[in-house]
Amino acid sequence: MQTSMEAGRSASDWQGPLDRMIRRVELTMKANLNGFPHYGDQETGEWVTTTDGFWTGGFWVGELWLAASATGDQAFLDAGRQWLKRLEKRVESRTVFRGFIFYYGAVTGALLHGDVLSEQLAKRAAQSLGHQFDKAAGLIPLGREAEEAHTVGDGEANIDGLLATPLMLWAASRLGEPNLRRIALDHAYNSAKFFLRSDGGVIQSASFDTATGDVIRRYTHKGYADDSIWTRAQAWAMLGYALSAQLAKEEPRLIELAEKVADWWLANVPNDLIAYWDFCAPVTPETKRDTSGTSIAVAALLKLSSVHPDSEKAARYGKAARDTVKILVERHLTESGILADGCFDPKNKKAIANELIWGDYFLLESLAILSGRLRVAI
Ligand code: GLY
Repeated sequence: MQTSMEAGRSASDWQGPLDRMIRRVELTMKANLNGFPHYGDQETGEWVTTTDGFWTGGFWVGELWLAASATGDQAFLDAGRQWLKRLEKRVESRTVFRGFIFYYGAVTGALLHGDVLSEQLAKRAAQSLGHQFDKAAGLIPLGREAEEAHTVGDGEANIDGLLATPLMLWAASRLGEPNLRRIALDHAYNSAKFFLRSDGGVIQSASFDTATGDVIRRYTHKGYADDSIWTRAQAWAMLGYALSAQLAKEEPRLIELAEKVADWWLANVPNDLIAYWDFCAPVTPETKRDTSGTSIAVAALLKLSSVHPDSEKAARYGKAARDTVKILVERHLTESGILADGCFDPKNKKAIANELIWGDYFLLESLAILSGRLRVAI
């Protein structure tokens, strides 16, 4: 595998931006927020919070686990434990986005710190998600409590829900539950049938017939158009398949899918490597970038690089990840450690040039890996 040194950067070059991001986590931790940080003003650093963690609360807890791991500072660990307790009431929420909440909020705590509550909540949420599986469709639908802008329920699904697979794969292995593992893999493979185009582009959402499981229509919740490639749809697919491949190394189809969607990204991302909010949105001087989607993609490329059996391809994905992190840091990471220019929900004019907690999480995770401060695969 190509090292960051060969690309002209050594592990220590990532240390400065990592430290800046950790200082930002510390400032947020000490702000005594009432709720989970969701999106922030990129000039003032002021957060908009959610009381129950929405679909994003796990990323805040995950940042605390990461900061504790990178620094060894007990204060981050204590805060991670405190905030995780607040997510316990979400274990049974009928939403596929428990994949986000409990992989990043709990599995990372179990993997990085052996945290007992993390392990318990991750297992319970995964088992409960398994009960949300739709046998006709062969995947887990959004669910009635899914946090989307519109159109949720038991006949709707989207690629953002793919992160349920890593949560269930991890729990199935810890619990020794082959049925949960089968559900996790079915969810991943049938998500590919629902959302992936033959060229590797990803359509965000689909409605299906709950009696037959047949797809009725494909559309978008947050993208530019129903047939457009919304940036985070592509990025979530990249991450979901790469992380699943990391957890189930004996499943070569997962690597094939991770490679297919990653190759589409690399073939279509702008020359400066930072994606606009939707690959099909007309590009004008006003068109927003989405650094959060780009940082998800970076995390996926790093994982794909570490699991891909072909060393040349692994090196290519690793280099693409490092090149992208370099631009993210140089052009979009402020002196205060805020990842600016995330674009949450332009259709609803919500947080279109902001700090977004999940964008922060994935850049922090990537910098921790590149700087050699994260030695456990998460
Ligand atoms: N629903 C997840 C996202 O907005 O990226």
